[in-house]
Amino acid sequence: MSKVCICVAWPYSNGPIHLGHLAGSLLPPDIFSRYNRLIGNEVLMVGGSDQHGTPITVSAEKHNMTPEEYADKYHEINKKAIEDMGIEFSLFNKTHCPTHFEVVQKIFLDLKDKGYIYPKETNQYYCPKCQRFLPDRYVEGVCPKCGAEKTRSDQCDSCGTTFEPGDLLEPYCTLCGTAPEIRPTEHFFLKLSAFTDRLKEYVADKDYWRANVKTFTKNWLDEGIHDRAITRDMSWGVPIPVEGWEDKVIYVWFEADIGYLSASVEHSRMIGKPDDWERFWKDPEVKSYYFIGKDNIPFHSIIWPSILMGIGGVNLPYDIPANEYLMLSGGKLSKSRGGAIDVPSVLENFDADLVRYYLSVNMPDTHDSDFSWEDFQTKVNNELVAALGNYYHRCLSFTKKNFGAIPEADPSDDAKAVAAEIARTMEEYNECLSHCDFKKGIKAVMELARYGNRYFDSVKPWALVKEDKDRCGQVLNTNLMLVKALAVMAWPFMPRSSERIWGFLGYDGSIEKAGLDEALRPVKAGQELRESVPVYKKVEIKHEEEEEPAEEPKKKEKKKQEQPQKEAAPAGPFADFRRMDIRVGTIVSVEDHPDAEKLYILKIDVGEEQPRQIVTNLKTVYSRDQMLNRRLLVIANLKPAKFRGVKSDGMLMALDDEDLGGTAIKLLKPSADVPNGTRIDCGLECSSSRIEVKHCEAVDIRVGKLTNGHILGGNVPEDCPDICALVYDGDVRVPMGDGKGCYITVDDGDFIDGARVR
Ligand code: MF3
Ligand code: ZN
Repeated sequence: MSKVCICVAWPYSNGPIHLGHLAGSLLPPDIFSRYNRLIGNEVLMVGGSDQHGTPITVSAEKHNMTPEEYADKYHEINKKAIEDMGIEFSLFNKTHCPTHFEVVQKIFLDLKDKGYIYPKETNQYYCPKCQRFLPDRYVEGVCPKCGAEKTRSDQCDSCGTTFEPGDLLEPYCTLCGTAPEIRPTEHFFLKLSAFTDRLKEYVADKDYWRANVKTFTKNWLDEGIHDRAITRDMSWGVPIPVEGWEDKVIYVWFEADIGYLSASVEHSRMIGKPDDWERFWKDPEVKSYYFIGKDNIPFHSIIWPSILMGIGGVNLPYDIPANEYLMLSGGKLSKSRGGAIDVPSVLENFDADLVRYYLSVNMPDTHDSDFSWEDFQTKVNNELVAALGNYYHRCLSFTKKNFGAIPEADPSDDAKAVAAEIARTMEEYNECLSHCDFKKGIKAVMELARYGNRYFDSVKPWALVKEDKDRCGQVLNTNLMLVKALAVMAWPFMPRSSERIWGFLGYDGSIEKAGLDEALRPVKAGQELRESVPVYKKVEIKHEEEEEPAEEPKKKEKKKQEQPQKEAAPAGPFADFRRMDIRVGTIVSVEDHPDAEKLYILKIDVGEEQPRQIVTNLKTVYSRDQMLNRRLLVIANLKPAKFRGVKSDGMLMALDDEDLGGTAIKLLKPSADVPNGTRIDCGLECSSSRIEVKHCEAVDIRVGKLTNGHILGGNVPEDCPDICALVYDGDVRVPMGDGKGCYITVDDGDFIDGARVR
């Protein structure tokens, strides 16, 4: 028996974790941990929520919450989602906790005493308008390496390059859009350069690392290792334990890795053996594995090993099985850019083991893999249900019905051939799982299930039971031996359903206790079988409808019930408004509708990868030139509709004073030059689930003119423009804006005050 230390990349608690996190860095370590436990190894598996840094403060600001409230909210949500997925940590910790602070500060001072951390004046982005320094995600621009737009100033999501202030092209402040200045400020630096030789030596024998990890690390080393700033101008984070540095904190990437250690310490304290972590970190025989996504590679193969070398006496990463990305129709599944498929809602609709199966066979281990619900349905129904689930059920229910208990074993060579096939699969399985090749491992298990189905068909128990019941019992014994082997080997991938099969076979206790070798042993004749049910059920994914189905309201209603449930509609004040996803956009192309004289087909950039196509009847009001490059407001989460055969995905916001006796129709526009895609949420938490037109009509939005500091009787903030759209909830009204100084206005005041927006 050996010990294994499994470290799992810490997801930021700035939103619910999604399928990309599961496939990339959360499910693989759980499969690996379970495999190790199954072969009798002792596992310490640690990780938690990464709660500091700009990913948290940016999101918290957006939702009008303190960083702590926000980070704790998603820590709880994600912790539960992880448990519900059957992912078992020794401890799923969080970085905003006393033990973490204690361990980080201790290491900081230790490295500082040793000369590995030193202060230095450096450049940082500074926004002259917001009058603040802009660390990391507060600045975006174009990646100098791959050209990706909207790239953050610390790292490029597309190509993985890490940046220093000044590297980004066309930078802008994400709070106000202003181009930032560069200002000097003092920071602590980690002397990475001091570790160059030791790092080269460390990676020299890591030829077993995955290709992506080797290449990335080699490139970094070849480019030369530079010292990096490890503190930031902000107040949310781990305080710097040095006098005079109270207004800065330790950089999230320096402290989050230390979470692996601090969570191990915390776990030891929780089990009442405060030094237990040393057995996993100081014993050189223990191998440590770091499961991460590819964007985390340099932090785990260079920076974290350097910190560990600086500390001394602790194990360096043995392997870093980094996964590529799970892609959603060509783009990265990323919670910070929308388009996510979050785990809590997935679990409302599907059994965890189905999701675990799909992500295992579709794991982005050596290259990006594509996710789609259609593919999920195909693989679950045609593989998991049709091969494995079906085999389990036909063997168990047929034997139970005809024999009640496990029949006598088959003394003939047939049974030996099956046992040999199990042993052969086991060899392949061990080879795969011990090297973190999980996708190949689950495929080997599924091959054995198909073999089982073929064997069952070839011996025809349904005919044998009438002709030769004893022989029938023998072949069923062999089949049940296969069922048991499959359940044991499938356990790391699909633990809950495998345990149920174990129970149907009549075993008490757990597969984990029984151990992997149990897969190679015969079944016990005479063991009472339990009543079994199919453990995997087919799934049906409904497609979003495009055409407005006004003619068939009944059918529509039925469909709606079957559809996977969406996030709940917001409640409380401005609940209707908060169902709307209103965004700033720019018209990038204008075309005439081929089949309708009065319609334009517009393409509008609303901050997504592709511009939105929206059909509008404003052709009689605005000329093509007035439209092109116009900035406007788009309701982005309406169900798509078709107008004379052309798809329209969204609606433009315009004021209309016709019902007040006027004649004006005017497009609304943002009052400030904010980026496309900026959400007009009045600083409230707004949903982006798809809604119907009638939901928009329920929202009371009017446009008012400023007279004597009042708009339609309401006080407005000082920076509010003279003409401003307001959203009403009863008598309460809020000026519509992004909560940061950009409001909704129109070109001129030539309309009746209080005109409705539609
Ligand atoms: N929160 C980081 C991310 O999501 C990962 C941190 S891993 C750790 O990319 F090692 F720093 F903890
Ligand atoms: Zn700014």
